[in-house]
Amino acid sequence: MCGIFGCIVKDANAAPTIHASLKRLEYRGYDSVGVATVQDGKLYLKKDQGKIDEVHAVHNLDDLPGNIGIGHTRWATHGAPLQINAHPHVDCSGQIAVVHNGIIENFSELKQELEGRGHVFKSKTDTEVIPHLIEENLRNNLSMSLADAVLETVKRLDGSYAIAVISTKEPDRIVCARHESPLVVGVNEKAVYCASDIPAFLPVTNKAVIVEDGELVTLSLGGYEIKKISDSKVVAREPKLIDWTPEMAVKQGYQHFMLKEIHEQPGTLRNTLRLQEHYLDLMATFLDRAHEVFLVACGTSYHACLASSYMFSKLAFLVTYPVIASEFVEQHGKSVNIDSTLLAVSQSGETADILAAVNAARQRAATILGLTNAIGSTLTRVSRVYIGQQSGPEIGVAATKTFTSQLSVLAGLALRLAKKRGKVSQDEMDFLAEKLEKLPDTVETVIQTQEEKVKQIAKKYKDAKAFFFLGRGISTATAYEGRLKLMEIAYVPAIAFPAGESKHGPISLVEPGFPVVFICPKDETYKTLIGNVMEMKARGASIIAVIEEGDEEIKRLADDYIEVPAGTPEVLSPISFVVPLQLLAYYMAVEKGYNPDTPRNLAKSVTVK
Ligand code: F6R
Repeated sequence: MCGIFGCIVKDANAAPTIHASLKRLEYRGYDSVGVATVQDGKLYLKKDQGKIDEVHAVHNLDDLPGNIGIGHTRWATHGAPLQINAHPHVDCSGQIAVVHNGIIENFSELKQELEGRGHVFKSKTDTEVIPHLIEENLRNNLSMSLADAVLETVKRLDGSYAIAVISTKEPDRIVCARHESPLVVGVNEKAVYCASDIPAFLPVTNKAVIVEDGELVTLSLGGYEIKKISDSKVVAREPKLIDWTPEMAVKQGYQHFMLKEIHEQPGTLRNTLRLQEHYLDLMATFLDRAHEVFLVACGTSYHACLASSYMFSKLAFLVTYPVIASEFVEQHGKSVNIDSTLLAVSQSGETADILAAVNAARQRAATILGLTNAIGSTLTRVSRVYIGQQSGPEIGVAATKTFTSQLSVLAGLALRLAKKRGKVSQDEMDFLAEKLEKLPDTVETVIQTQEEKVKQIAKKYKDAKAFFFLGRGISTATAYEGRLKLMEIAYVPAIAFPAGESKHGPISLVEPGFPVVFICPKDETYKTLIGNVMEMKARGASIIAVIEEGDEEIKRLADDYIEVPAGTPEVLSPISFVVPLQLLAYYMAVEKGYNPDTPRNLAKSVTVK
């Protein structure tokens, strides 16, 4: 997730407006920033790594000439957060500048093709192919307009994009386009704007046009023209009046960032699934060679590790050891050696306990692999191979979208390893890969169809003194995560166990009305789990079951149930089954009057041991 912005203003320089708007988009990414403007046939460009204020202090982002320009605030996906990788990116001639939010999946092929035609690339980004493709189109057809060159360019892109383009050749217009990344246009009497999100221009205009997927827009001081990318047909669309306050606008109308981030999951999962195959393959090769694999993390990321230990075992027949990072040195430190591999999973890449475990393992010559949401974080610097999960910044303290993305990367990794080891048939591989691709839609269905029901369940149980979360097999990890979410934001004491363990002690807590949440995918554990549901029911527990759609057997037993679309294979089930639990925790917190975005005593990134 990055923020893009562009504007053309009457009788004033664009740069101060771009700078101010990028500040309002900083929540979308903050590892580097850049601005490009055009005046008198010349392109002006300033960009660097760092937060906007830091870069402004060094480069003065307000000081670029020209009434037209574009800007970008970055959250790295391809290429580390370095000046060279910061946007805008330019073509060989330095006349076309592009800002981009999204991921171009076929950039390697395009780059190779363009290099073959003599184009010279400066960065490691996927974005840089765009200005070169535009340049190539204009070179091949001297009478082509910038808008047509952009149109022909985006037709060649696979993946997601929202782009804004300026050129010295047409210094009075910005061309922008979108596919699966957000883009809005704003207008007033004095200017025209394009941005990733409405807050970017809300203080200067509340008239916004939402650009749809597959559309290209040309902005000029005369207004805007929208065209369909597929057939160049012009689309008529009037601006809408936005009545959000600036604070509501940053949350896109959601009451809290956490709810917004829960709702973003179909999109973030789609982005995660666009990961470059070769990084997954490389990491799978390291895992394949390892004598022992430790999966090291804290909190929610640990739950992703726990779930993935079932994935690695069931798909790739690889035994892995999920370990809570703060225990790693005590528990395994002395036995780690050159044959050990440590896969550290950390959204922030900066969690002190994880870095301590990594350092201890490095000193004993172990191989370090990393999975993180923060390219450029310490974890990426100390890892032999790392994968960026591509979920975009998460503002709510409680991890939601980053958890489901971690799970989907780890599932993809387990699948690659299984293939490498010859542990799955071609048919099984295709089946699982297809189901993984479908998960964003499944998650979307869960949110669309079950949110209201979860809200009602939260109302019903809001005064409960404690909760149980139970699951078997891989759903144990889902249960642990549901419990953590509820405890950390709704402050409800909760216990999670593999369901089979409950009768070895915890069941003694249960008395009539005690809420017990069961995670019930129809997998190999299903029949035994029903026995556990009966045990709890016999003791008067209130059963809240997360079930597959149409599971009549558990519907009859449960006091309340939440349905998840059927047909997701067991190893992928945590990704869809955890979503109702995120919503449950969220609505419990809201019912109890707490702000779920900022739970007491917690920080987003825990950088002390
Ligand atoms: C829970 C939560 C924390 C983090 C944990 C690890 O919602 O956010 O438990 O998962 O502090 O953080 P990272 O993944 O940044 O290492």
